[in-house]
Amino acid sequence: MTDPSGITAGAESGGATRTIEAYGLTKSYGKPAVRVLDGIDLQVGRGSVFALLGPNGAGKTTTVRILATLAEADSGTARVAGYDVVAERSAVRRSISLTGQFAAVDETQTGEENLRMMARLTGQPRAAARRRAAELLERFDLTTAARRPVRTYSGGMRRRLDLAAGLVGSPEPGVFFLDEPTTGLDPRSRRELWAVVRELAVRGATVLLTTQYLEEADRLADRIALLNRGRIVADGTAADLKSRVGGHRLDLVLTSDEAYLRLAGRAVHHSPETLTLGLPTDGSAAQVRALLDEIDPAGHEIERFSLHSATLDDVFLDLTSNATPSTPTTSNATPAPAPEAPTHV
Ligand SMILES: Nc1ncnc2c1ncn2[C@@H]1O[C@H](COP(=O)(O)OP(=O)(O)OP(=O)(O)O)[C@@H](O)[C@H]1O
Ligand SMILES: [Mg+2]
Repeated sequence: MTDPSGITAGAESGGATRTIEAYGLTKSYGKPAVRVLDGIDLQVGRGSVFALLGPNGAGKTTTVRILATLAEADSGTARVAGYDVVAERSAVRRSISLTGQFAAVDETQTGEENLRMMARLTGQPRAAARRRAAELLERFDLTTAARRPVRTYSGGMRRRLDLAAGLVGSPEPGVFFLDEPTTGLDPRSRRELWAVVRELAVRGATVLLTTQYLEEADRLADRIALLNRGRIVADGTAADLKSRVGGHRLDLVLTSDEAYLRLAGRAVHHSPETLTLGLPTDGSAAQVRALLDEIDPAGHEIERFSLHSATLDDVFLDLTSNATPSTPTTSNATPAPAPEAPTHV
């Protein structure tokens, strides 16, 4: 049967439009078993950057480890670069580069020595290994630091070297898994790394990265999946996700607990301490005026209001909030941990 789109979902790199595909991945750990992934579906197109965004413990690393063949799912299937992650594990491994919180790099050696040694390990002759190392040092802007021991590198240089190390093989892998590539980097190093990631995608590589930084997902990723407690709670472009909270948010500071409770159900943002609720709106004067009139016809219940563009924060907080609807009174029920606000260093 012919695919009406004309796209062949073939396994060959020439034909595949989706480089990463996962269906119904589940994973549990421990006794009694705790479900860490609860049916993950993912499709990532070739040459794109995909961000898996989520709070601590959401299951980001677990997902990456399954896709990178380091862990096996309890159920579900996944293909990377056209290969099944279980049945064709070694083919997957040859097609990917994984950069995580592990150190493959020898601190006491220079950047150049590290890359040359790794290139030799992939079977390249001495001269070719030297050329490859020089090329990568140039490409990742490490030429001036090439002859210094890695222990003297800054965090950003170190991450760039890690990425370069993932590329020494020839041919270059087409799929990159980057687990929190910019955690702990200063803003400048983070930007430099973003540029490197984008360049990988421009060259046709597929990048799946995990991050806790909304700004990073917003700037870098073509698509974002928001992961919470082992489920994907939203998936789309940054704009798609933002439009889920109406594009704009009208924040209302209310005059009483009663008003707060009455309106809490309509809000996408809750701040009981300050009696503030955020309501989705398209931001037009007509809609805002109508909303204010409808909510507070007598003009007693709203003390102040402010309007701002929805941010990924709004989406993130809305969709990863595990708490039962917030109330202005403190309840003694144990609240689920609030998602940590991402800190931008
Ligand atoms: N090998 C393991 N054994 C037991 N539990 C595990 C194991 N690996 C992960 N978990 C649990 O699975 C859950 C998800 O972990 P995972 O590392 O995938 O989260 P994450 O989204 O990467 O979090 P973070 O942002 O902190 O890196 C956590 O509750 C974690 O404790
Ligand atoms: Mg993790």
